[in-house]
Amino acid sequence: MAFPTIKIVSGSSEIDAVAALAHEIWNQHFVSIIGQAQVDYMLHRFQSVSAITGQISSGYIYYTITDGGHIVGYFALAPVPDGSGEAQLSKLYVRKNLQGRGLGRAALEFAEGLCHQMGVRKLWLTVNRHNSSTIDFYWRMGFSIEADVVQDIGGGFEMDDYRMAKAIAREDDK
Ligand SMILES: CC(C)(COP(=O)(O)OP(=O)(O)OC[C@H]1O[C@@H](n2cnc3c(N)ncnc32)[C@H](O)[C@@H]1OP(=O)(O)O)[C@@H](O)C(=O)NCCC(=O)NCCS
Repeated sequence: MAFPTIKIVSGSSEIDAVAALAHEIWNQHFVSIIGQAQVDYMLHRFQSVSAITGQISSGYIYYTITDGGHIVGYFALAPVPDGSGEAQLSKLYVRKNLQGRGLGRAALEFAEGLCHQMGVRKLWLTVNRHNSSTIDFYWRMGFSIEADVVQDIGGGFEMDDYRMAKAIAREDDK
């Protein structure tokens, strides 16, 4: 597959498209892992148009992954305190019928390139501990498990995650 186009999300129509894709992918992928009620709650709380708009205002950078003129996935880098040397990959999703074709790798390598440019030394993320296919993907991409993270997210739900991390090499490390 040719390298997809990856660009920063800006403007309400692009945010609408990301929220619609989140709705599609979450309902396909996460219902069997966390149940429909938690999917509905988390989509409303974290991936609605207003939630994404608020995150962008607070410093999250969302990127769309576009192939053949269509949005096929998205990811986001979340702000971390200055001087920490770390960045959080807050989301990474590829449309179900296009998974397994190299798009996730392309997006992650792009994100790692951004981290490299920003002087980030470590990229980390959280992933549901029962999301085994995605954990395997992150292992394949060089991440390893650092910690268990259980977070109360309100509504009677909690996120039961692993924190996974990968060192970002600098030129002078080589
Ligand atoms: C996880 C996800 C982003 C990966 O994207 P993808 O486009 O399917 O992955 P790719 O095709 O780029 O795979 C990249 C590499 O990981 C490997 N890989 C992918 N899934 C794997 C699995 N389940 N087990 C082992 N290896 C896997 C591929 O073989 C490939 O290896 P290679 O490039 O060395 O040949 C995508 O499948 C997805 O959106 N999943 C559902 C939502 C989700 O869980 N998102 C993450 C939330 S934290």
